[in-house]
Amino acid sequence: MTLIALRPAILLRTLAAHSVILLWCVSLATGASETTVEAPSPSAQYGQLFLVSTGIGDLDNMTLRARDTIAEADIVFGMKRLREQLAELLQGKDTYEAGHGLFRTLGRNDEDQQELEAQARQVIRAAVADGKSVVILDYGDPMIYGPQSGYLQEFADLDPVVVPGLSSFNAANAALGRAIVGGGKSQGIVLTSAPRETDEAARQEAFARLAKAKPTLVLFTMRSDFEHTIAALGRWYPADTPIAIVTHAGDRQQQVITATLATIGEQIKGRELPFEHLIYVGDFLR
Ligand SMILES: C[S@@+](CC[C@H](N)C(=O)[O-])C[C@H]1O[C@@H](n2cnc3c(N)ncnc32)[C@H](O)[C@@H]1O
Repeated sequence: MTLIALRPAILLRTLAAHSVILLWCVSLATGASETTVEAPSPSAQYGQLFLVSTGIGDLDNMTLRARDTIAEADIVFGMKRLREQLAELLQGKDTYEAGHGLFRTLGRNDEDQQELEAQARQVIRAAVADGKSVVILDYGDPMIYGPQSGYLQEFADLDPVVVPGLSSFNAANAALGRAIVGGGKSQGIVLTSAPRETDEAARQEAFARLAKAKPTLVLFTMRSDFEHTIAALGRWYPADTPIAIVTHAGDRQQQVITATLATIGEQIKGRELPFEHLIYVGDFLR
């Protein structure tokens, strides 16, 4: 019944995906021993736009579905770092710079950004209309502060498909080796961004609201100022609250630093934290 509401291309793909199961059921019913018709691969025959996560850190954290979708793509948009990381898989494909934060009001919206947006509009719409498969690469969970989520809004009429991936949050949880919702006083978790250094009042207000319930906090840091963040946290969480920093989660440089709110400043003194780090604050670390 729900199939009737789907776009024709999606309907065909859905039927194709289910045809193996249907054929298997028919062969069971008729006693036929072999199935000779193979379902077409999803992206080979119908134009489709995908937002695909390459996972986090090393490439062996990418899902098989993501790898297959990229391998079958005709056109791939991605940030330089991801295009370089996937160079082998992208050989022979048309590749384009995906930018960072395109199609979002948060984006820089300067001339370069506008040029990239114009190019993406033109290339993606022409390719999908021409029956091609287009992949936008992202990393982590594209739905958690993903820089490419703007593509989903801009091309919503093309029914883009999101191929999920491991977030830095998942890889960092594994690095910590603790059940994040278990034990301690704090059962709940809040995933949030570290407030901007420039807006002290907003930072204080945000933490004040959050800290009332003393949940475990997981901060996506995004170049925020570490010292200010710790100082603000210190106003709302007791000084002996455990804190962990996980850098480069999911890759071979991964590191875990543990301390308390009172001692973390000393612990990382003189050390520059990379862009890739998460901050955990909460009793589950005890
Ligand atoms: C734009 S957000 C993207 C998050 C991504 N969508 C995810 O699910 O991991 C970037 C922030 O995610 C965190 N991050 C990204 N990669 C990381 C990694 N390998 N290890 C730890 N934190 C990471 C950092 O806080 C970084 O500033």
